[in-house]
Amino acid sequence: MSTLSFKKSEDFIAEASSYLAGGVSSNFRLGMLPGPLAFTKAEGAILHDVDGNRLIDYYGGMGPMILGHNPAAVREKVVASMNDGILLGGQSQLEVDAAKLLCQIAPVAERVRFSGSGSEAVQGVLRLARAATGQTKVIKFEGHYHGWFDNVLWSNAPSLEAAGSREAPNVTPLSKGQEEEASSGLVILPWNDLDLLQTRLAQGDIAAVIMEPAMCNSGAIAPRDGYLEGAKEACEKYGTLLIFDETITGFRLAPGGAQQYFGVTPHLATFAKAMANGFQVAAITGPKNLMELFVTGGVLHGGTYNSQILSMAATIATLESVSAPGFHNDLNNKSTKLQEGIEKALADAGVQASIAGFPGFIHVGLGLIEKPREYRDLIAIDKERYRALCHAMLKRGVRTLERGAWFVSSAHTDDVLDETIAAAREAAKEIA
Ligand SMILES: Cc1ncc(COP(=O)(O)O)c(C=O)c1O
Repeated sequence: MSTLSFKKSEDFIAEASSYLAGGVSSNFRLGMLPGPLAFTKAEGAILHDVDGNRLIDYYGGMGPMILGHNPAAVREKVVASMNDGILLGGQSQLEVDAAKLLCQIAPVAERVRFSGSGSEAVQGVLRLARAATGQTKVIKFEGHYHGWFDNVLWSNAPSLEAAGSREAPNVTPLSKGQEEEASSGLVILPWNDLDLLQTRLAQGDIAAVIMEPAMCNSGAIAPRDGYLEGAKEACEKYGTLLIFDETITGFRLAPGGAQQYFGVTPHLATFAKAMANGFQVAAITGPKNLMELFVTGGVLHGGTYNSQILSMAATIATLESVSAPGFHNDLNNKSTKLQEGIEKALADAGVQASIAGFPGFIHVGLGLIEKPREYRDLIAIDKERYRALCHAMLKRGVRTLERGAWFVSSAHTDDVLDETIAAAREAAKEIA
C-alpha cells in the first residue's frame, strides 16, 4: 500500500519559520512526526493539507471541534452576526442568550463570565476562590493541565524521579523560564486518592481544589467511585471550594459536562474548547453568591475580547447543537465503536495497550498492562512507540494527537470510523 507524503508541508514550515518561531503559533503544534503540517481547508471530519492529502481528523483543533469542521449551523450564525459588528466593548443580546443557555445546560451555572481562553478562565476562577475563602493555596493534581500560565504549569508531566514521593510530590515546572515563586501557592497531590486529599485539606489554608473531573490531559481516567462526592464533602468540611476545570470535558461527556455525567456539582467551574466549536471563548461559572464577588466583592475579571460578537454567536449555535436530543448518545456510540476498533486492531497485531474513553474522547496508552488510575500509572506508556503509531496512521490518512488523545466529533460518520479502523490495522502491523 502506498502511503502519503508530507513534503509540501515540510517546505511550507521551513519557509514559515522565517517569520513564525518554529513555523507555528503554539509549542503544542511542534512535536508531531514527520513535522508540523499546513492545511488548506477543513470540512466535517476531514482536513486537507498543502500536499493535497485528505486526512481524517481526530486532533479536533485540540478539542473544540465537537461538531466537526465548519458546520453549517455555526458558520451561518456567525456570518449573520458579523452584520451587527465585531467587538462592541459593551453588552449584546447574543452574550445574554449565550449565558442563559449555559445556565440552562451546566448544573453549577447560575451566573457566567465569558473569557478569552481556558487559561484565562482558570486564572479568574482561582482568583475568585482565593477572595471568597480568604485562603491562598490551591491543590492541583499530577498530570492535570490548567493552562500555560506560570502559576499552574507545574507537575503536568514529570518523570517518576522528578515527581518524588507519591504522598507529597515535588512541584515540577513544565517550561523553562517559569517564575519559581509562582508555584508557592500550589500543593500537588496524586488525583483519585481521597484519603490524601482529606488529610491535606484538614491542615487548612486551602482556597481551592482544582481538577479535571475526568482526567483527559493525561490518559482518559474516570474518578473512582465516590471520589468526586468525597472531594466535595471534604472541601465543604474545611472551607475550601471545589473547582472543576471542564475545558475538555464540558459539552463533550454530556451537555452539562462531567458534572452532569458523574452527577456531582462542584462549587465553581470553567468551560472552554467545545463551547463554540473553534471560536475563541471560555467561561467561569458558579452560583450567584460566589459570582457576585466579581461585581461587589472587589474581584477583578477583565479581557478586551471577552464576549466578542462572533464567539457569542458560535457559542449559541454550538450549545444548541450539543443539547439536541440524542446528540450525546450518538457521540458515545461513535467513540465506543472507535475505541473497540482500535483496541482490536492493536490486539490482533500483538501490540499491548490500554484504551479508555468517554463520550467524544478516547485515549490509547501503548505498553500499559494495568488500567491506569492516576498520572503515575501512565508514566510507563511507550511514548516513542506511540509517536511511531501516530506517524503510521498519518501516512495512511488519519491525524491524531501524539499524547494518545483522540477527539471524536458528531461529523465522524460510520464510513469514516471504518476507514480509521482499517488504517489502524495496517499501522498496528507496521509498529508491531
Ligand atoms: C483542562 C484544561 N484547562 C485549561 C486549558 C487551557 O485552555 P486554553 O488552551 O484555551 O488556554 C486546557 C487546554 O488544553 C485544558 O485542557
